[in-house]
Amino acid sequence: MGQTLRAKIAGTGSYVPEKVLTNKELESMVDTTDEWITTRTGIRERRIAVSESSTDMAVHAAERALKSAGVSAADIELVVVGTVTPEMTFPSTACFVQSRLGIKSGVPAFDLSAACSGFLYALDVAEKYIVSGIVKRALVIGVDRFSEIIDWTDRSTCVLFGDGAGAVVLSGTKGKSGIMASNIHSDGRKWDMLYAPGKGRCPFGKENAKKDSDKTESAKKESAEKETPPYLAMSGNETFKVAVRTMVASIKEALKAAKVSADDVKLLIPHQANQRIIEATRQRLKLPKERLFMNLDKYGNTSAGSIPIALDEAYRQGRIKRGDIILFVAFGGGLTWSSAALRW
Ligand code: COA
Repeated sequence: MGQTLRAKIAGTGSYVPEKVLTNKELESMVDTTDEWITTRTGIRERRIAVSESSTDMAVHAAERALKSAGVSAADIELVVVGTVTPEMTFPSTACFVQSRLGIKSGVPAFDLSAACSGFLYALDVAEKYIVSGIVKRALVIGVDRFSEIIDWTDRSTCVLFGDGAGAVVLSGTKGKSGIMASNIHSDGRKWDMLYAPGKGRCPFGKENAKKDSDKTESAKKESAEKETPPYLAMSGNETFKVAVRTMVASIKEALKAAKVSADDVKLLIPHQANQRIIEATRQRLKLPKERLFMNLDKYGNTSAGSIPIALDEAYRQGRIKRGDIILFVAFGGGLTWSSAALRW
């Protein structure tokens, strides 16, 4: 009987921008305090991509992942990038990465939009390509540059996010290592809990039916008030509760499908949104504290970059050994949520 084909993480890499923005610095930008941010979120500082674009960060992370896997760009047969802050509306950031790294022409490269669950969505899709035998090796990247979609005058959101990228090389294997189970979920009915309208308006759209110069002063004021700001908007409290509920359910689903229990898990690497969300999730799973990885104090919530950055750091710090069962879980706008269980 032939052995099952699995997708295993053969190498990891990450990149965060040079510029550090501390809670103290935020105190001079909005009405907040280091104490409020630290106690409510666990975040102490975050990185801001002043000169790096999404592609730059993705490329740096991918180069490190290729090096760690000991493979070259020529070996990559699929590129999937989870991002909601792509380099451009099109082409995809994945296409830019393909070009910059010299990945072969003809290799499929595409972006995937699932906000903070973007990396796990991308991992799930790439895994399916590998276990079905279509490709042997994939580059999976999570990158976001939320500094460009944040309203830096809104204290309820600007303190939470940062920029960064992480990447893995996923390879087909018939050995024991690899992804044992993974699930992805969405609920579009709850889209307005967490969203970013973005930019660009159609000049023929009904919002522009009448030119501003034709409008009375009160009509101008009214339309300005109605105009949707492009920035990220969020219902913090509601998001908090739904995040814990869906992440716990998603983890239980992955554990069941992988036929392992929470006791078997050596390390839980959750989406780094808020220390209290992560802590509540850990407690519901009855996982000991030492089996949890957190680095959000340094980076805040880097959206799709969050899990692969944390994975790369955990691996390089020696927190992951061959044979360990590792669990990923994420939650984000959409709503989207996802989890994966794998044997290292
Ligand atoms: N500094 C100081 N005060 C702030 C603040 C800030 N940066 N942001 C909000 N506040 C204020 C609020 O205005 C509110 O004031 P009020 O009581 O006078 O109205 C007060 O702090 C309490 O707000 P509340 O929303 O109850 O705080 P909280 O304990 O729920 O924490 C979040 C707020 C945003 C940290 C928390 O809800 C959260 O993390 N939610 C999930 C967000 C998330 O992770 N989103 C991404 C998911 S991928």
